Amino acid sequence: MYITILVVIEIAVFIWLVRLGHSYYVLPLEERPFHELHRQLKPSGDIGHGLGIVGTLMILIGVFGYMTRKRWRALQRWGRLKYWLEFHIFLCTLGPMLVLFHTAFKFGGIVSISFWSMVTVVLSGVFGRYVYVRIPQTVEGRALDWSEIEEIKRTVEQRLKGANELSDEQKQTIWQIWNAPTSLWKKKRQIKRIARKSVDRGSPLYDWLIEQTELMHKLSSDKERINLYKRLFKYWHVFHLPFAIIMLLIMLIHVGVSLALGFYWIFD
Ligand code: HEM
Ligand code: HEM
Repeated sequence: MYITILVVIEIAVFIWLVRLGHSYYVLPLEERPFHELHRQLKPSGDIGHGLGIVGTLMILIGVFGYMTRKRWRALQRWGRLKYWLEFHIFLCTLGPMLVLFHTAFKFGGIVSISFWSMVTVVLSGVFGRYVYVRIPQTVEGRALDWSEIEEIKRTVEQRLKGANELSDEQKQTIWQIWNAPTSLWKKKRQIKRIARKSVDRGSPLYDWLIEQTELMHKLSSDKERINLYKRLFKYWHVFHLPFAIIMLLIMLIHVGVSLALGFYWIFD
C-alpha cells in the first residue's frame, strides 16, 4: 500500500513540474530569456536552483541513509533493510527527477558527465533491483547458501503440515503452488482463494500463508538460477557504484563552481 503512495507522490510531482514549466522547457535556448518564468525556472533561478538543491539532498539522504543502515549494527532496530532499500529507491528516483528539471533540459559543460552518470545509475538501479529481489537473503541482506535455503524450506513444510485448520488436500495443493514456476501475483491469488475456505482473513495463519508465499516464491528457483542472479548482482555493482561516485564527485565540483560564481540561491 505505502509503495502505491510513494509512486503516486512521484507521478504527482512530475505532473506538477511539467504543468508549471512545459511552455518554458520546450522553447529554444535563445528564446527562453523572454519567457515570463525564465527568472524562476532557469538552473540558477529561484525554482530551478531550488530543485537542484532539494533533488541533490534527496539523493544524498537516499544513498548515505541506506549505506549507513546496512553497515551500522546499532541501526538494525530501525526498520528492516528491505524498507530502507525502498526508501533508497524512492529518494533516488524523485531526486534525479528534480535534478532533471533543475537542468532545464540543457546538458552542457562538465556537469553533464554528472547528469549522464546519474541517468546510468538510475537505469542500472532498476535492473539491479530486479535481480536483487530474486536472491534469497536474510533480513539483513546476506545471500543465503543452498543448504540454508533447503533448511528453511523444510521448516516451512513442517509448519504447514502442522496447520490443523487446513485439510491434507489443501496442504498438498498449497505446497505445489508454492513450488510452481508461476508468478508471485498468481500464487498469492491462488493461496488466498484456498486459505479463505478454511481460515479467517487476517488471522495469524492467513497472514503466515501469504508471507510464506512471498518467501517460497524466492526459494522456489533452482540452484543454477539463484547462482546466476548472484553472479549478475556482483557484476551489476560495477555499474551502479562507480557511476554513483563519478556523479557525486562531479556534482561537488559543480556546486563549488556555482558558489564561486556567486550563485547563492535565495541567500543572495
Ligand atoms: C547531481 C546533481 C546536479 C546536476 C546533474 C546538475 C546539473 C546541472 C546542469 C546540466 C546545469 C546547466 C548547465 C548549462 O547551463 O548548460 C546546471 C546549472 C546550474 N546548477 Fe546544477 N546540477 C546539480 C546539482 C546542483 C546543486 C546541488 C546546485 C547548488 C547548490 C546547483 C547549482 C547550479 C547552478 C547555480 C546552475 C546555473 C549555472 C549557470 O547558469 O552558469 N546544481 N546544473
Ligand atoms: C542517483 C541515483 C542513485 C544513486 C546515487 C545510488 C547509489 C547507490 C549506492 C552507492 C549503493 C551501494 C550501497 C551499498 O553498497 O551499501 C546502491 C545500492 C543499491 N541501489 Fe542505488 N542509487 C541510485 C538509484 C537507485 C535506483 C533508482 C534503484 C532501483 C530502481 C537503485 C537500486 C539499488 C539496489 C538494488 C542496491 C543494492 C543494495 C545492496 O546491495 O544492498 N538505486 N545505490
